[in-house]
Amino acid sequence: MDNRPIGFFDSGLGGLTCIPYLMKRLPEEKIIYFGDTARTPYGSKAIRTIKGFSMEIADFLVKCNVKMIVIACNTVSATCVDDLRKRFPDIPILGIIEPAAREVASHCGVSNNVGIIGTKVTIASHAYKDMIQDMNPDLSINENACPAFVPLIEEGIIDNDIMNLTIKYYMDGFVRENELDTVILGCTHYPLIKKNIERIYPQLNIINPSSIIVSRIEEILRDHDMFAGGSDFKNVFYASDLSENFLNMIDHIFAEEADDAKVKFLNFDLEKELMK
Ligand code: DGL
Repeated sequence: MDNRPIGFFDSGLGGLTCIPYLMKRLPEEKIIYFGDTARTPYGSKAIRTIKGFSMEIADFLVKCNVKMIVIACNTVSATCVDDLRKRFPDIPILGIIEPAAREVASHCGVSNNVGIIGTKVTIASHAYKDMIQDMNPDLSINENACPAFVPLIEEGIIDNDIMNLTIKYYMDGFVRENELDTVILGCTHYPLIKKNIERIYPQLNIINPSSIIVSRIEEILRDHDMFAGGSDFKNVFYASDLSENFLNMIDHIFAEEADDAKVKFLNFDLEKELMK
């Protein structure tokens, strides 16, 4: 048994889309979440910059004595997993791409046309495509960056015409020309616009890595004999900038959760904290 919390991080609120699935599946597990809202978005930044930010956050989570780190960000998972594992060889570090890639490689076949949407950095890395095709070389994989989605979602522009037009702008040609039947939401912010995408393209099977990752977390905890067994630790959610928009979005993400599963964010000064 291991009652230490699991550390999650993302550039902002996207990684929170994993949390309700974790709470339902593994209710005893405790969480420390870090959203780097002061420096979001990561998906259009240089890889060197993203690595620097990720190392700082992982250092902080390790200081908090987490038993495992979940990179709830595709952009970081696509570019920094190996560096993070090298720096912290004794802590299981799970990226969000691998469990979803495995699921697609095992459930899709040559008759499927799979599309991946994500940030510029995730798409340019070909991390999904390479991983899926390593496991299933016959699969046809198409990639498309949608860089305006994250800033709009962080602004709370979701269930309205601006978002629907933006989705069509990025996806109409992509879906039609590649005759897609399956789309992977390759950014943890995108589950927040899953309903819009479903309405516009009802023919698509939408793969949501934020829900798939929870089974992999469970497997890792089982393999390391690290399941929590009931503790008084309260989940902690940090953000490096607590804007009003951000707080509204939190209410939106956790709207369907019971009161005790709702989250309260603490403002966090990463630089100051790391200087201690
Ligand atoms: N939510 C993140 C991802 O999964 C990053 C989005 C961003 O900061 O650009 O890629």
